[in-house]
Amino acid sequence: MNKFLFLIFSFQLFITQIYTEQCELTLNDETQLTFNTFLQAKKFCSSTSLPTKNTRRIILTGRLVDYTTRCKRSITDANIEIIHIQSDLRSVCHELHHPDSRGYYTLSTSVTIPSTEQLFLRITSPGYETVLKEIIIPSSEKRQKNIILKWQIALTPSQEQIETYQQQQGRMDSTIDDLMSKMTLEEKIGQLNLVTVGFDVTGPIVSENVDENIRLGRIGGVFNTFTPKAVRPLQELAMNHTRLRIPLIFGYDVIHGHRTIFPISLGMSTTWDMASIETSARIAAQEATADGLNWVFSPMVDIARDARWGRISEGAGEDPWLGSQIAAAMIRGYQGSDLTQSNTAMACVKHFALYGGGEAGRDYNTVDMSRITMYQYFLAPYRAAIDAGAGSVMTSFNEVDSVPASANRWLLQDLLREQWKFNGFVVTDYTSINEMVDHGIGDLQEVSARALDAGVDMDMVGEGFLRTLNKSYSEGKIKEQIINQACRRILEAKYKLGLFDDPYRYCDDSRPDTDIFTNENRLAARDFARRSFVLLKTDRKTLPLARSNLKIALIGPLSDDHRNLIGSWSAAGDWRQSVSVREGINKLVGNQTQILYAKGSNLVEDEYMLKQLNAHGGEIELDQRTPEQMIAEAVEISTRSDVIVAVVGESQGMTGEAASRVDIGLPECQKRLLKALFDTGKPVVIVLMNGRPMTLTWEQEHAAAILETWFAGTEAGNAIADVLFGYYNPAGKLTTTFPQHVGQIPLYYNHKNTGRPFNASQFTDKYKSRYLDIPNEPLYPFGYGLSYTTFNFSSINVDKTELHGDSDRLTVRVLIRNTGAYSGEEVIQLYISDPAASVTRAVRELKNFKKIYLRSQQSEEISFVITTEDLKFYNTNLDYVWEEGDFIIHVGPDSVNTQSIRVKWLK
Ligand code: BGC
Repeated sequence: MNKFLFLIFSFQLFITQIYTEQCELTLNDETQLTFNTFLQAKKFCSSTSLPTKNTRRIILTGRLVDYTTRCKRSITDANIEIIHIQSDLRSVCHELHHPDSRGYYTLSTSVTIPSTEQLFLRITSPGYETVLKEIIIPSSEKRQKNIILKWQIALTPSQEQIETYQQQQGRMDSTIDDLMSKMTLEEKIGQLNLVTVGFDVTGPIVSENVDENIRLGRIGGVFNTFTPKAVRPLQELAMNHTRLRIPLIFGYDVIHGHRTIFPISLGMSTTWDMASIETSARIAAQEATADGLNWVFSPMVDIARDARWGRISEGAGEDPWLGSQIAAAMIRGYQGSDLTQSNTAMACVKHFALYGGGEAGRDYNTVDMSRITMYQYFLAPYRAAIDAGAGSVMTSFNEVDSVPASANRWLLQDLLREQWKFNGFVVTDYTSINEMVDHGIGDLQEVSARALDAGVDMDMVGEGFLRTLNKSYSEGKIKEQIINQACRRILEAKYKLGLFDDPYRYCDDSRPDTDIFTNENRLAARDFARRSFVLLKTDRKTLPLARSNLKIALIGPLSDDHRNLIGSWSAAGDWRQSVSVREGINKLVGNQTQILYAKGSNLVEDEYMLKQLNAHGGEIELDQRTPEQMIAEAVEISTRSDVIVAVVGESQGMTGEAASRVDIGLPECQKRLLKALFDTGKPVVIVLMNGRPMTLTWEQEHAAAILETWFAGTEAGNAIADVLFGYYNPAGKLTTTFPQHVGQIPLYYNHKNTGRPFNASQFTDKYKSRYLDIPNEPLYPFGYGLSYTTFNFSSINVDKTELHGDSDRLTVRVLIRNTGAYSGEEVIQLYISDPAASVTRAVRELKNFKKIYLRSQQSEEISFVITTEDLKFYNTNLDYVWEEGDFIIHVGPDSVNTQSIRVKWLK
């Protein structure tokens, strides 16, 4: 009982000068409300008001937490109002329904002077007692124009809610107890079996006899089948033809959108925009659940430092802190606050764990990593997803500490369930159990028993559980209680999804028409796409392109392409519905500019590569003309044009699963084309489409501008046109380091210093950690990305340089000025270094960021509050601690170009 009645209230005051502009965004000073801002405006601000002369702005930022589920959890659905009691005040209430990526709510109000010392904060959240808190503003602080109030409140569930919660829990337990008391061992094992059938093939084998096995109660879930029309008959088999009428769960790889496809996950991460990321998952869940599904195999949160690995495209990059924010935002988006709603889906965090750490970037390869490295750099995003309430976890193909993840008891039991308090269910990846035979830890019976015993609840496709668990049980190799436990977790998931109340909850035939591929969703896709683009180079004259009286040579194998735009994990997306760059440009400026088109080269010509890509849906057709003829045509139109836009890159199949590459440059045929284009002397804007960091040193040298657009999804062409012509000023920032040479890999910003760090200014130093042939530096560092405008960062200002104890706070301020001619957004990044600790630390680590919008010549002071939480790391005992000493705080537009200041923080 007491666990429900835990109330903590801490309240601190911070004062700073800040100015926020919440509900307005202009582009190139032509007012254009973007879809996302529009959503935010609708959702986040019940009213807006910019401060008038005599007002003070009060910003409240804080977190609502709940201790009901043993671990601390942010509350994601609340109404928070600031109430002004005095009648002389202009009363402005702001309501919030979503916290930011860190679980923080921010709201602001304007108070007319003379102001009051007293305001009230009223918080209501479904299931919790309403909290009314008085806020006293000390009079000494009254003269400040802007005030930040920071708080953390643990909400107490109301007695009624506790009872409801207990009743719900009780109802779930008794439904499942009752059901399980009637189940045979075979039926329980059947629940642990997940099969694939239907529209998509996502692994090496597919399931057979699915209908019959459903009837026999030998299947608990199905994936790769969607649409109410296809799902319903399978659910009917379970409901009408099995002894106990247990509904099936329906899963699918909904990775970056379902039918409306958003940028690939790596692209979504480069938005550094948690509201967009959360909304993208929300829309994906809306579409997926309208399409018969209730379980999505996402988010993939594997940290990746190796650009050779094709699946780097599926994750959020190399940083554990940013990866954690993104993981939590995705879970919130998919699951919402109520899984029984017919438009929310259960998320599945994958691939647990360390899948991104495979040797040499080869997919499915061995992972060998120290415990401390796991904790320090790789585990955080999985943990963040669990803390955000993820309903399920998928194991990874690789081994962890020499035991494959799917049989790793330390991983699935000690870490996941005991330390992290995960209470959902664990599914394997595709045939992972069977693959443990090849890993070399036993035959199918042995590995199946080990997987179950380690904590796996559901077996994806391989049917190892189905075929061997009964035998293992009768031979006394596994206990019934473990089968019961796994079965219970699957049934609980179905219960949480409301399937026992209505197994056809996600089979509403009318929803596809209203919820899928709507105009609104396409608008969102366009907005997320342009937010994801990273301007890697600009000569500051060529881009943005003039919107009229311009002759453009649009060239390249991807410039009029549809097939590749939606990426390789594009769920139920239909590439035929995607907008090509040629179409996007034509639509936007076609009648004011002259656009000449030539393909210029094939996407790939290398036969070895072509055969493999085309064997798996590459659909790359070689042009009938010779490469020389294609280049000649491209050169000819270029010479008649003012500017060349070259759309080049990888095909979708060159990244994603089982798509590792050792050469991560552009394919040779495209390089030959680019060379010919550079030789014309015309400015060349490279528009890149690809799913990984690439080696682009030569392109960087010669191009006038380079715009990284990843695989941008259904609306790719429209979004690219928006950015090329300045309707949106690019603001994306890299979340993976781009190497100069593939030989530098693994290359990541948060590396260690080593005992012999190389200082580039001492070029001939020999006994240093370096290469003889190229510098250590990347081509583009983590956090990097340019804009059409320029931003100036003042030097860092801190409120103290010596701090004491756990509760001290350091406020870091920096003034950002938009010094260029365009409005734009900047991501202000905060890194911390800990130059002397009991274990070696990374040279710097990202700890926070803010993305702001500034008009030309506008300035804004940004502040970050650093607490000892930000100083913590894992020591050799794997305790998460901070140690006293010096710390260096860095602030900047990327991980390299930072301003720094040193402070001392003592115990
Ligand atoms: C992938 C998973 C995916 C699963 C189901 C596997 O091959 O590794 O990411 O969710 O297939 O399609």
